[in-house]
Amino acid sequence: SPLPKAFQPLSIRNLHFQNRIWLSPMCQYSAGRDGTPTQYHVSWLGSVATRGTALIMVEATAVSPEGRISPHDLGIYSQDNLLGHKKIVEFVHSQNQKVGIQLAHAGRKGSTLPPWLVDRMNYPEKLGEEGGFTSQLVSASAIPFDDLYPTPTALDKAGIQRIIDSFKQGARYAIEAGYDVIELHFAHGYLVTQFLSPNTNKRTDEYGGSFENRARLPLEIIRAVRDVIEEAGKWDDIALFARVSATEYLDHLPESWKLDDTIKLAKLFKDEKIDLLDVSSGGNSPNQTFPAGFTPSYQTLLAGKIKKAVEGLLIGAVGGIRSTVEVDRALEEEDLDSVFVGRSLLRDPQWTLQLAEDYGLVVKWPHQYHRAHRVKI
Ligand code: FNR
Repeated sequence: SPLPKAFQPLSIRNLHFQNRIWLSPMCQYSAGRDGTPTQYHVSWLGSVATRGTALIMVEATAVSPEGRISPHDLGIYSQDNLLGHKKIVEFVHSQNQKVGIQLAHAGRKGSTLPPWLVDRMNYPEKLGEEGGFTSQLVSASAIPFDDLYPTPTALDKAGIQRIIDSFKQGARYAIEAGYDVIELHFAHGYLVTQFLSPNTNKRTDEYGGSFENRARLPLEIIRAVRDVIEEAGKWDDIALFARVSATEYLDHLPESWKLDDTIKLAKLFKDEKIDLLDVSSGGNSPNQTFPAGFTPSYQTLLAGKIKKAVEGLLIGAVGGIRSTVEVDRALEEEDLDSVFVGRSLLRDPQWTLQLAEDYGLVVKWPHQYHRAHRVKI
């Protein structure tokens, strides 16, 4: 019988993924103060890379110091950062898997603390101690996320250009580090989402107002990063993904970012040569109507609707994927192209190998496990 789609390979030009089960980017709040990856990252990401997952996506990695969500986030804006990233790439490649990086800027959602240190945030005393950067928060408009967050400064034209340049420089470092995939983080209420949504973007210049104006920043970032990939001669070897929030779950308001907007955006992204759209949702407002949780397949239907509406664009599903049931729903029923798996792999780094067994496949466990399979009880 043919391989289940989950374990069929997928190629994007010269880039070949062994299967379609990919690690979703997840912040670990374990970087050094300067955003440099540590042995923690090699160990955590390595534990997944040794066990059958075909793409290891590194967590949201800031393109500038003030673009970090917390001072413990990864960065990709210095030579020191670059050395740390090279170690991650080298290890994942030694396991014959692909590795990607999610380039990010938190905008008004920056300068927080790791979630386990405080309940949300504790301004301003704690941040001072922890090396926060509250005073430098930027956004589309001067509107805070909620009362616990400081008010960001609305970026001026020069500031927007600096953001685009930081994504460009981040992409240069990512290519130098050897990453196979660059994913642009346009989801979850971070800086680019703040420009996309009419709730957080009240600008009156060409970056605000109409849909086209609100979509200008992500399109400019995509073009800038595509240029960098082309200049490096890596067009065929590196794939460019974007993660978006398909809806901000504020349909009760007169104006909000909705699925139809994402479909329009996805078409523009396809024209700008985004290879794959990674479809998430929410995160732009504390008033969103969707309860966060671990509901099975909770975003897969949104991804499926985009897949049907945008011909020829690869689409990845994410959210509540826990077993063959949710994988089949995404890849078979909704005809999506890959699944990103977050918490299932966080809990069990060999979840992918177990999934293969659950499909009845003969699993090639890591060589180092050899004796585990020979010992008879
Ligand atoms: C996340 N998520 C996330 N998303 C993202 O785009 N960039 C990131 O850095 C993070 N960080 C992060 C940290 C942790 C600890 C969790 C649990 C989640 C969201 C994640 O990638 C994924 O989209 C969601 O968790 C839903 O998928 P699962 O976990 O239901 O498979």
